[in-house]
Amino acid sequence: MLILNYIAVLVLMNMLKFNALTHSLALKAPKSIRNTMTYVVVEDCIKCKYTDCVDVCPVDCFHEGPNFLVIDPDECIDCTLCEPECPIGAIFADDDVPEGQENFLELNAELSREWPVINVSKESPPDAAEWEGKPGKLALLER
Ligand code: SF4
Ligand code: F3S
Repeated sequence: MLILNYIAVLVLMNMLKFNALTHSLALKAPKSIRNTMTYVVVEDCIKCKYTDCVDVCPVDCFHEGPNFLVIDPDECIDCTLCEPECPIGAIFADDDVPEGQENFLELNAELSREWPVINVSKESPPDAAEWEGKPGKLALLER
């Protein structure tokens, strides 16, 4: 009986260790494996780049290029804080990206691997207001 109890305790301890291991791996896994949402910067940001969004991000997942910002989908924790900060509504949840701009999901992922992090807002381009809401700005994206 004592041996059976001993074996039961050993089995229980191993189960607890396994649970802790899988939990820790799940937290460390890339976003693509965790299968959670991300926020995405879309075309309207190009040549406007107001940067109000970066001050509120708790995990520094914005990256800056010459005339556009992107969000690293592997770092975004879907807190929603940045979305209302953009004065021109250029940030969307990945399942709410405007029709025809689905390519910005991949573009955010790609460029966030190349561009440096920005976590403090800065002056917008002097002609930013002139570019608000203009179509076809993807062709003007500088890398
Ligand atoms: Fe950062 Fe939150 Fe916006 Fe994601 S949703 S980019 S974590 S502020
Ligand atoms: Fe772009 Fe809006 Fe941020 S214009 S830089 S997404 S505040």
